[in-house]
Amino acid sequence: MIKISPSILSADFSDLGAEARKMQQAGAPWLHIDVMDGHFVPNISFGAPVMKCIRKDFDGVFDVHLMISEPLRYIDNFVKAGADMITFHLESDSDANATIDAIRAKGVKVGISVKPKTPAEAVKPYLDKVDMVLVMTVEPGFGGQRFMADMMPKVSQIREWINESGREIDLQVDGGVNADTAKVCIEAGANVLVAGSYLFSKDDYAAAIKTLLPND
Ligand code: DX5
Ligand code: ZN
Repeated sequence: MIKISPSILSADFSDLGAEARKMQQAGAPWLHIDVMDGHFVPNISFGAPVMKCIRKDFDGVFDVHLMISEPLRYIDNFVKAGADMITFHLESDSDANATIDAIRAKGVKVGISVKPKTPAEAVKPYLDKVDMVLVMTVEPGFGGQRFMADMMPKVSQIREWINESGREIDLQVDGGVNADTAKVCIEAGANVLVAGSYLFSKDDYAAAIKTLLPND
């Protein structure tokens, strides 16, 4: 089943609670929360306190994407703020195995992410211990960038390994997803689509979500 995870990075920051509620009413099962530290990426978004404030406004999965240099230091904060899934970057400074174990120890699902220049092989050693792999389809840091179609072979390769593993691992794509590129991602093997600017620029969120899902 394909799941849509709207990125609140593109929401109206002066009214995040209302935006989260609107996305829930529109049927979004997940909410994607982009945390940026101005160091791992050249942009600052928000942190755990802001996320905590909107936890009461969304019942579904809080899908937290940490674009920060030291994810391991902040796991506890994001768990306390209501994360259901924490995804960190393999390019960060924290030890990957220690970070996976720290997230798991809190009873929260674990995702690992790779930037466009990082090859598929980087995720392979961790496939037996994660719940999700996130393949970035833009350079992380900003919403509204152009989709990188050349990431699709990476998605297909990781999908193949996931299927071989026999484990239930979600494969997420993030960046430049719209009605056209969603189809390309699904065909390549992604099953969780993050969409920010495309969804939040529309008046009718429910109708916009439908355009990202397969027809049948
Ligand atoms: C980029 C973020 C994305 C971003 C996606 O660094 O991780 O989640 O919000 O935005 P769009 O869908 O506008 O590319
Ligand atoms: Zn993201």
